[in-house]
Amino acid sequence: LLPQPPKVLGLQLLTVMEEDRWKKRWVESKHQMDYGKFQLTAGKFYGDKEKDEGLQTSEDAKFYALSTRFKPFSNENETLVVQFSVKHEQGIDCGGGYVKLFPATLNQEDMHSESEYYIIFGPDICGFGNNKVQVILHYQGKYHENKKTIKCKVNTHLYTLIIRPNATYEVKIDNQKVVAGGLEEDWDFLPPRKIKDPYARKPRKWDERLQIEDPEDKKPEDWEDFEYIPDPEAKKPDDWNEAMDGEWEGPLIPNPKYKGQWKPRVIDNPNYQGEWIHPEIDNPKYKPDPTICRYYNISVLGLDLWQVKSGSIFDNFLLTNDEEFAEEVGNKTWGIRKDLEKQWRELYEEIEKRKQEEEARKKKEKEEEEKDDIWGTEEERNEEDPAEEPGNDRQMQEDDADRAFPGRNEEVLVDQKDEL
Ligand SMILES: *[C@@H]1O[C@H](CO)[C@@H](O)[C@H](O)[C@H]1NC(C)=O
Ligand SMILES: *[C@@H]1O[C@H](CO)[C@@H](O)[C@H](O)[C@H]1NC(C)=O
Ligand SMILES: *[C@@H]1O[C@H](CO)[C@@H](O)[C@H](O)[C@H]1NC(C)=O
Ligand SMILES: *[C@@H]1O[C@H](CO)[C@@H](O)[C@H](O)[C@H]1NC(C)=O
Repeated sequence: LLPQPPKVLGLQLLTVMEEDRWKKRWVESKHQMDYGKFQLTAGKFYGDKEKDEGLQTSEDAKFYALSTRFKPFSNENETLVVQFSVKHEQGIDCGGGYVKLFPATLNQEDMHSESEYYIIFGPDICGFGNNKVQVILHYQGKYHENKKTIKCKVNTHLYTLIIRPNATYEVKIDNQKVVAGGLEEDWDFLPPRKIKDPYARKPRKWDERLQIEDPEDKKPEDWEDFEYIPDPEAKKPDDWNEAMDGEWEGPLIPNPKYKGQWKPRVIDNPNYQGEWIHPEIDNPKYKPDPTICRYYNISVLGLDLWQVKSGSIFDNFLLTNDEEFAEEVGNKTWGIRKDLEKQWRELYEEIEKRKQEEEARKKKEKEEEEKDDIWGTEEERNEEDPAEEPGNDRQMQEDDADRAFPGRNEEVLVDQKDEL
């Protein structure tokens, strides 16, 4: 028996994209005139120069709005898997790294941040400690954010969202489960199942005191609790006239036998009943809804983003109803090239660091020379900015421009399934 081929929902992955081909498949919105441009590139470091080409944001401090359409489908009674990879090679400081799924009614040429969507999924980063994976789901005219925080990562990562027809979900990063559970529990789509019984009252005599003062404990007879006593040595002055001066009161002195305020000892309360727990009842406003996250005519995948520092590369988009297939595709794309990319990234970062150190050293030398040159004899200084010398960056860009775009390979075959 042959294994059943995976049922493919909608868009398949586009790991290898020819320059003109991606432009045919993706539509730039014209809602705003100054959206940032995407470019097709594998970036500064990668596992495979051709296979790791993806869509990169190329201009700083811009909004981006690009989308691609596929045959409409519904996830009624079906699992929905949304998967893609994103690499933030720029050291992202603030920006979105997520995808959006839209209904067929979206006008791609007019797509913008307020366009109605079904799902936002992926990392969202802005500032220190403010990075998370968004899973925002549309339900009855409202957008609901995931209540469980999912931390995201930088570098290149594979993001997978699974929504199952039995109202469970899972989020995976790099094919590892990071969170899973029930849709009802982890989003506030519905009112809670249980509420506190509004008629239940704590009994007036309910004893919640863990400890009490011992009622048996008595103050000893000889307990001195006067802090001050009249000075026994003091004498009423002979000329004290009670009629004129009032009753004589001698001065007070500290009581040498004073023991402090007496307090009964504290014991465990023998009648302690525990903390009163408000009984719960079924919430009359709660009604289960099997249509949560059931979407019809899912038909557009969009990159609708704001980025301060650009350079994120989106790749390996996949929509399917087969969890295992998605995992396998993840393994065969991101998975087999991640280690190579990591090695290259480390090398690249090392080179960048050395370059910066070298520049700092040169700058300091120049400053020293200028300090020594008090007579200004060295007037014709070399004005060339070391930063403008052709460096590795430029070299890499030239290589990119020279590159011959490859033909289709086996990964594009997957892409073709979408056209079936
Ligand atoms: C989904 O399942 C329900 C219940 O089994 C069935 O009535 C309905 O026709 C199914 N929908 C689709 C699109 O298969
Ligand atoms: C939901 O479906 C998944 C996959 O079929 C299964 O592993 C899981 O146990 C189900 N969960 C519930 C609560 O039905
Ligand atoms: C999906 O789109 C088709 C074609 O436009 C339309 O006839 C149908 O009503 C839509 N389905 C839903 C559930 O919106
Ligand atoms: C994906 O790769 C992991 C790690 O090598 C492996 O455990 C898993 O079985 C693979 N999954 C599929 C569906 O090939």
